[in-house]
Amino acid sequence: MKILITGGLGFIGSNFIRYWLQQHPNDEIINLDKVTYAANFKSMVDVESNLNYSFVRGDIGDAQLVDKIMAQGIETIVHFAAESHVDRSIDDPSLFVKTNVLGTYVLLNAAAKYGVKRFHHISTDEVFGSIDFGSKKQFSENTPYDPSSPYSASKASSDHLVRSFYKTFGLPITISNCSNNYGPYQHPEKMIPRSITNLLTGQKIKVYGKGLNFRDWLHVEDHCSAIEAILLKGKIGETYCVGGLKKGTSNIDLVKTILEIMGKTEKDIEYVADRPAHDNYAVSWDKISKELGWKPKYDLESGLEQTIKWYTENQDWYQDTKREAEEFYIKLNKIKK
Ligand code: NAD
Ligand code: TYD
Repeated sequence: MKILITGGLGFIGSNFIRYWLQQHPNDEIINLDKVTYAANFKSMVDVESNLNYSFVRGDIGDAQLVDKIMAQGIETIVHFAAESHVDRSIDDPSLFVKTNVLGTYVLLNAAAKYGVKRFHHISTDEVFGSIDFGSKKQFSENTPYDPSSPYSASKASSDHLVRSFYKTFGLPITISNCSNNYGPYQHPEKMIPRSITNLLTGQKIKVYGKGLNFRDWLHVEDHCSAIEAILLKGKIGETYCVGGLKKGTSNIDLVKTILEIMGKTEKDIEYVADRPAHDNYAVSWDKISKELGWKPKYDLESGLEQTIKWYTENQDWYQDTKREAEEFYIKLNKIKK
């Protein structure tokens, strides 16, 4: 099978390419990535020599380039490419609309023109909005959309476009809406790698507000196996929600676990200004479990231990991106004040 992966130099895309080539060594992967600030070539060094892997530098919004790639006989598209960071969407939403909405539209158009067998769209639980503090509610495939940030609004728009191409043009699509991923190769702008790399570089962990907002943490390898289950067994036109084993982990509890594993204390926490429209998330994965037999393997503690070990042993991987990320946060904090 010939698969087009978009955004394969990013966190989840790079993990997925590695996972897929291990599980399906005869498949061919073309990775289309624009190489934004979030891309990292170092994530692919162990894959580059694989003859079934090739890389194209380019924008998913470039219709001519996408057409040229599709003409090579792509059967499946797994679409990861996106602007993915909520804080950056607060700083400047325009690129989120361009890549996440218009870029997805260009891909859909090409997929319909060339009659691909599957267009799998990677989306987020953030499209569903926020869960109230104290509520035991979990998002599911039937939860109405209610996005809060320009990031989640742009992902919601792309989900709608993807579904419209199924309903209107019969494009064989599937969508997954997953919770917060963590694990190796994640950009150090995001909470877990930022916290770990702050401690590794002698800085404190920055906690937004009082740290009471909660997330549903999903190890990236579990996400990869969920996408695999959807590609192999998922029903065309369907959406699958994907989440982790533990629900409602507050940011402060997460941070305390990281501190404990890394042998640090609460003195290494700095409370900083809160994020506007700060959501809470928890996702039910009942449907994908019942219909496709998927379940996550990692519990949060062992996943964090593995992730901390990886960042400790791979300080070269994040040095440049870490510097850029912290410069971004200094700029963002000036805007907030
Ligand atoms: P990431 O920011 O780490 O990587 C995104 C990649 O896409 C980068 O390599 C970047 O260069 C590339 N890219 C950006 N714009 C592009 C464009 N116009 N054309 C081609 N390539 C482009 O993102 P991630 O964390 O790996 O997220 C991947 C997908 O998963 C996204 O669609 C995101 O919305 C979704 N998602 C992520 C999470 C999470 O916790 N990270 C959770 C739910 C859903
Ligand atoms: P993040 O990793 O940005 O993912 P998302 O907002 O898409 O869920 O943030 C996860 C949570 O951690 C979120 O509640 C915001 C919070 N956070 C901090 O408290 N400090 C930080 O330095 C960062 C980056 C995030």
